[in-house]
Amino acid sequence: MQEKKVGAAAKTKNPYGIESPSHFAGKVPMKELLGGVLKPMLGMGTWLLSQDKTEQVVYRAVKDFGYRMIDTAKMYQNEEQIGKALKRLFSEGVVKREEIFITSKLWLDGRGRVEQELKESLKRLQLDYLDSFIMHFMVPNVNKDTLAVERNSLQDVWRDMEKCFKQGLTRSIGVSNCSTVMLMDLLSFCEIKPCSNQIEIHPYLVQHDVHELHHELGIPLEAYSPLNPQQDPFPNEKVKDLVLMNDQVLKGLSQKYGKSVAQIVLNWHVKYMRHIVFPRMTQDSHMKENMEIFGFEMSEDDYKKVSCMNKNARFYDKVPVQEFAWIPITA
Ligand SMILES: NC(=O)c1ccc[n+]([C@@H]2O[C@H](COP(=O)([O-])OP(=O)(O)OC[C@H]3O[C@@H](n4cnc5c(N)ncnc54)[C@H](OP(=O)(O)O)[C@@H]3O)[C@@H](O)[C@H]2O)c1
Repeated sequence: MQEKKVGAAAKTKNPYGIESPSHFAGKVPMKELLGGVLKPMLGMGTWLLSQDKTEQVVYRAVKDFGYRMIDTAKMYQNEEQIGKALKRLFSEGVVKREEIFITSKLWLDGRGRVEQELKESLKRLQLDYLDSFIMHFMVPNVNKDTLAVERNSLQDVWRDMEKCFKQGLTRSIGVSNCSTVMLMDLLSFCEIKPCSNQIEIHPYLVQHDVHELHHELGIPLEAYSPLNPQQDPFPNEKVKDLVLMNDQVLKGLSQKYGKSVAQIVLNWHVKYMRHIVFPRMTQDSHMKENMEIFGFEMSEDDYKKVSCMNKNARFYDKVPVQEFAWIPITA
């Protein structure tokens, strides 16, 4: 698994011969996903971005601050607004399609119609293809009236994901909230391995064992909620008092290195843990600050200090299924 500086001339091919452009603009290093596609290690998350703000926030992040990777999902209900921002950015010549990496996700209710779901996301985003299409959650859907578990097995769903990839609807296919047990199951039958696994990781939930396994398998980890926000609509009461931004260890490192707490955390993610991250940002100051996380390094001891902050504190510990059932996520 390689990380490449932006601007590196090399092109890589996945098993189906699809080329990965490696000429994204900006100063963000790229990480090679399993299968060869290159993804910027820093992008922008869009969960909880309201529909009225999304278009402008995404437009500014790309145009004024140089972000070249956007993480969205059908479930976030803002693909349409992101599509409008992208259309403006392309038509004004700010970026070309191949210079920006767009991820969207398959929601639970779409497991039986994967290709259609992907095409609907493309329509909302006004795109011809995605850079990554990932399974948002690996669990089956549950009927809220009958409690019946939907019959689409993981094997069926993944086969349909593979078909989408082979048709060129997406340059890579991946997973999210995929426990190690589910991952091993998937690897036992897949033809195309997942390009990455997007899971909750931050200094209060480091998941050391999960890292070891993914490293062995060559599957990069994407760290969602890297700043451990406390605004989730489904709060986990057990960890509600843990606020990363107020942590004394991080505040000490912030003073020592003359960087903000968020920069210390994001620097640990990308430089030490080698995660791909996409913090959600609405404020200009945050967009600017987060772009400036690559230009410094902490000592090995200080990186270890951050890793030792682990409290196994999972912020998102359950997935809402049909707004009714709550299925625990476990690694
Ligand atoms: N696959 C999944 O199941 C899953 C689950 C959750 C999230 N995600 C993805 O991961 C993305 C990121 O996670 P998240 O949205 O949960 O939370 P997050 O990015 O960890 O935190 C977002 C919060 O951090 C603040 N922030 C950003 N930069 C900052 C800075 N430099 N200093 C101080 N505060 C800063 C933002 O404030 P402002 O808005 O005020 O700028 C916002 O309130 C999501 O948006 C989504 O794309 C995926």
